[in-house]
Amino acid sequence: MRAFGIDFGGTGIKGAPVDLDNGEFAAERVRIKTPEKSTPKAVAEVFVELLGRFPESDGPVGVTVPGVVRHGVVHSAANIDDTWIGTDADRLFTEATGREVHVVNDADAAGLAEVRYGAAAGRRGLVLLTTLGTGIGSALLHDGVLVPNSELGHLEIDGHVAEHRAANSAREREELSWERWAKRLTAYYRTLERLFSPDLFLVGGGVSKDWPEFGHLIEIDTEIIPATLLNKAGVVGAALYASELHS
Ligand code: BGC
Repeated sequence: MRAFGIDFGGTGIKGAPVDLDNGEFAAERVRIKTPEKSTPKAVAEVFVELLGRFPESDGPVGVTVPGVVRHGVVHSAANIDDTWIGTDADRLFTEATGREVHVVNDADAAGLAEVRYGAAAGRRGLVLLTTLGTGIGSALLHDGVLVPNSELGHLEIDGHVAEHRAANSAREREELSWERWAKRLTAYYRTLERLFSPDLFLVGGGVSKDWPEFGHLIEIDTEIIPATLLNKAGVVGAALYASELHS
């Protein structure tokens, strides 16, 4: 079974057909720059161009969005254009592309991919993935089943929204050392640990490639490991999600 995955991010829009038997790209991935003003309409045009580069591809299309998505409708836009709020993205993209499109939260997509093909493959119990990027995304998976839209980057800790202090963008903006950033991550993961008692934390997002720099500095009791699909997770997870909803 094949499906197409699109990862819509702040700087790039990436897409590839995905072989769902093994979670590998079935053709080389294409990346197009995200339009300056990334409204749903502008992004839909990029999707049309992107899919046009894969004339052979068929099957459903999954798309990640960095916001809350319920039944195809986007309900929040912390780090993207406000016009996304209230947009029926499934309908808009299905009409624009002529393909069956299903939209999913970006961290939820990454979580699905990691429990099927990546770092948490075969793991039972509660897996909590966080993506450390511009914001903090989260995915809660129990015995491989996703509870969507957990939005744990927006937890308030000591009067601060967690992602404003502990996302990778905060580390870059404030030029934090790995040690100082890891202190904030420890506070964050300790809060998650107290509230959810997960069996495993996965850490995704681009910075997970730097895991050897900061992973050992996070002081918590729960097992915590880096995600393994890295920048493939969004595309693969989106394709997987679309295939599961395929009608
Ligand atoms: C959004 C989440 C998203 C995360 C990572 C947060 O600001 O609210 O929906 O998953 O950023 O992109």
